[in-house]
Amino acid sequence: MSTSTARVRQHRTYLMCRPDHFTVSYSINPWMEPATPTDTAKAVRQWQTLYDAYVAAGHEVHLIDPVPGLPDMVYTANGGFTIDGVAYGPRFRFPERAGEEQPFLDWFAAHGFETVVPTQTNEGEGDFLLVGDAILAGTGFRSTGDSHREVAEVFGREVVSLTLVDPRFYHLDTALAVLDPVEGPGGVERATIAYLPGAFDARSQGILAERFPDAIRVADADGDAFGLNAASDGLDVFVSPRAHGFAAQLHERGYHPVPLDLSELLLGGGGIKCCTLELRIGRQNP
Ligand code: ARG
Repeated sequence: MSTSTARVRQHRTYLMCRPDHFTVSYSINPWMEPATPTDTAKAVRQWQTLYDAYVAAGHEVHLIDPVPGLPDMVYTANGGFTIDGVAYGPRFRFPERAGEEQPFLDWFAAHGFETVVPTQTNEGEGDFLLVGDAILAGTGFRSTGDSHREVAEVFGREVVSLTLVDPRFYHLDTALAVLDPVEGPGGVERATIAYLPGAFDARSQGILAERFPDAIRVADADGDAFGLNAASDGLDVFVSPRAHGFAAQLHERGYHPVPLDLSELLLGGGGIKCCTLELRIGRQNP
């Protein structure tokens, strides 16, 4: 692909949650150290820059009320997975986050979504990413293989299961970013993704290489900087400012990296994409 590839911004609708109650009071991933102090006001300020960047790019951002005692609720990507007005709810691996399940389901129901209560452990868009008309699904740390089968049934789509092997990259959205989903039939082959090869087992690396030969393969240093935890509208890619190599790769492919520092939220093991849930409302109007 050449530098002149014309990218087109696609309108997005997102769900976010202000980190009013953010802190690190427990540890369920290697980034979380409860002994390290957190600065909630700083988390809110950094989060606000992401919110403002989405709005400035013309996107629509809905908000869910933060609940006291649920410090991880800011990571709305884990709150569900939505396609065509149907919201598949989350069922968290760790009891610390179980209290988030009902508030997210209630939010979807109150905003015109048909809700599906899951029977299997899954952490929403943290582990499910839509590409073309298929769902890339992560497992290994959080969402189970059974949830991959459940999500395939709920949405009637092909699910491509990928296994994560590095505990620092415990959700699919920490190791793989969809830059242009080309949603719809036949889109998978034309979609662009970026990923961190070393975060996946050999079988999954083989699947990714075969199905996405043009993918951006990101260097370990950029993965370590949480660079893959990026949100893209097909033109702008909202990305960690420390993922320098990835930013250069994005430029080369005609994307426009928008660097945003969410360092405080990284203390909870989350970044830009974690704080962002895409709302695909289909023909419905939430
Ligand atoms: N502390 C949260 C957890 O461990 C972070 C979630 C990050 N979310 C994401 N989509 N990767 O569950």
